[in-house]
Amino acid sequence: HQYDANWKMLPENDTDGYHVGFTHQSFMRAIRSQYDSFVSDEKQIKGVIRDWGNGHTEIDFAGGYTQPLEWLGTGPDKVPDYVAAMEKSYGKERATELMRLGPPHACIWPNLFLAEMNIVIFQPLKVNQSVQWHTPMLLEGAPGLDFRLLRQSEGALGPASFLVADDASIAERAQQALEAGDPWCDLSRGLGREETDARGVRTSHMTDETSNRGFWQHYLHVMVG
Ligand SMILES: [Fe+2]
Repeated sequence: HQYDANWKMLPENDTDGYHVGFTHQSFMRAIRSQYDSFVSDEKQIKGVIRDWGNGHTEIDFAGGYTQPLEWLGTGPDKVPDYVAAMEKSYGKERATELMRLGPPHACIWPNLFLAEMNIVIFQPLKVNQSVQWHTPMLLEGAPGLDFRLLRQSEGALGPASFLVADDASIAERAQQALEAGDPWCDLSRGLGREETDARGVRTSHMTDETSNRGFWQHYLHVMVG
């Protein structure tokens, strides 16, 4: 997808947990998700946001998943071959836990996005133009799962999908506002409730802007030292 926006508008979106319930509202209405009651009760959201340092950021949705393969909108009974292979490799207990946790949703500084079962690359073209490349990851020997992964990739990231068209629109609008010198740019959500562990990793509520602060602080660091 080509965007009329600076490349930094893409990672700023991809590990931002706040916009999901609003920008992607039509998608959130169509599926069962942690965002269903977000506006009335943000405690419904059990996932967390994380700033790993060095510009690497993550939305960890796993805390909101109670069932294996919930992250894919399916269950073990729909993909028995995959479940059998996972249990053979990891044992039943660990396989069940891995299938509940799901894949990562993380940006690796500066331009790699592990978008669950898609590899995404941000490519700058001009100061106000960029491309987001998507490649779905499929698993050998799991055709039933691969079919679902491909449909999910099309539904989330394809040209007529639920997510990327929305994100392109807000990336381009943010670009226009920044070019116009709009001073209303606030990334302070959740500043007062972040927690930092012994490794320096910051974690906060999934809708907090901890990830964006981490991204921009590292950008400032590499640009000016
Ligand atoms: Fe988005």
